[in-house]
Amino acid sequence: MTLLASLYPILRPALFLLEAEKAHRLAVRALAACPAPSAPAVADPILAQRLWSLDFPNPVGLAAGFDKNAECFDGALGLGFGFVEIGSVTPRPQGGNPQPRLFRLVADRAVINRMGFNNDGMEAVAARLTQRDPARGIVGVNLGKNKETADAAADYELGVARLGPLADYLVINVSSPNTPGLRALQGKEPLADLIRRTRAARDALGKRPPLLLKIAPDLTEDDQRDIALVALEEGLDGLIVSNTTIARPPLQSGDLANETGGLSGAPLLAPSTALLGRMYRLTEGRLPLIGVGGIASAADAYAKIRAGASLIQFYSAMIYRGPGLARRIVAELPALLRADGFAHLKDAVGADHR
Ligand code: FNR
Repeated sequence: MTLLASLYPILRPALFLLEAEKAHRLAVRALAACPAPSAPAVADPILAQRLWSLDFPNPVGLAAGFDKNAECFDGALGLGFGFVEIGSVTPRPQGGNPQPRLFRLVADRAVINRMGFNNDGMEAVAARLTQRDPARGIVGVNLGKNKETADAAADYELGVARLGPLADYLVINVSSPNTPGLRALQGKEPLADLIRRTRAARDALGKRPPLLLKIAPDLTEDDQRDIALVALEEGLDGLIVSNTTIARPPLQSGDLANETGGLSGAPLLAPSTALLGRMYRLTEGRLPLIGVGGIASAADAYAKIRAGASLIQFYSAMIYRGPGLARRIVAELPALLRADGFAHLKDAVGADHR
């Protein structure tokens, strides 16, 4: 895979001739065929952290949506990621929206997707996760709801019960723009109810993986305040900020920019980092935050950390920068921390607010 990473600039034009979803399938298959690492990646100790009783060798994660079905998490760990989030997984398998539903906005280093939670369902995913060797690295499970389910919380309860025992951490995803009604679950009352029920399902497990909530970047200030309050009151273990945006900042990709769906990649960096900073302030630094949105370099990752992220993730930059990016960020972050006088990553978390 190291060879593939160095060849990526040459391979990329050929991959970009393929339809985006086909290229993604190919990437998942290639990663699934890679030998699994025998142990987590070793990084500079300045990057190692213990959070929620989990030992993260480095703070760089693969965001949800790349390995929706738990087919290639070991291969991804082998790329140097400190953790991988699989999903979103729904209780029953579902096909998602009609294709095409994934678009590269090359001039903007961005992506628009309206996949709609296409996934194999929790039983198939559970079967794969059961085969996993947890010693190889941290794998989180991101949970969604089936399109047709009216009682959303019931789907998250099912996901927690089935996949919780196989996960290092769990994510309640209420922020994908491609499932009708999903983002309304971020409102104060429905959110408190959802978290209470999902947490009860988690607390009923023998092993209790931490429970995080993934939020949208398109929230009003009232929503942001409510989410912070509910997260603290209802005992959530962390927040992931953020999912893709339905907003369309000025883009250079012509008609493609008008495709319906969630926008990710470079144009999401500034708004998602701003929201991350606001959520850090609103939760008074009391909850670990995972910063995601538009990261394509160590400098971007460092900006998220300073804004309040204990961990970071990316997806879209895998498309533009290739499979070597995780390792590159892990290699370059320590110098950025030391240049600002930080002896450890955790000292830099939220530094912009002090
Ligand atoms: C995603 N993302 C996503 N998030 C999630 O919680 N569940 C999911 O199933 C998916 N699916 C998905 C598919 C595709 C094709 C993309 C591009 C993204 C969102 C992803 O995890 C991340 O939050 C955003 O993409 C922002 O990060 P990047 O891509 O700008 O690094």
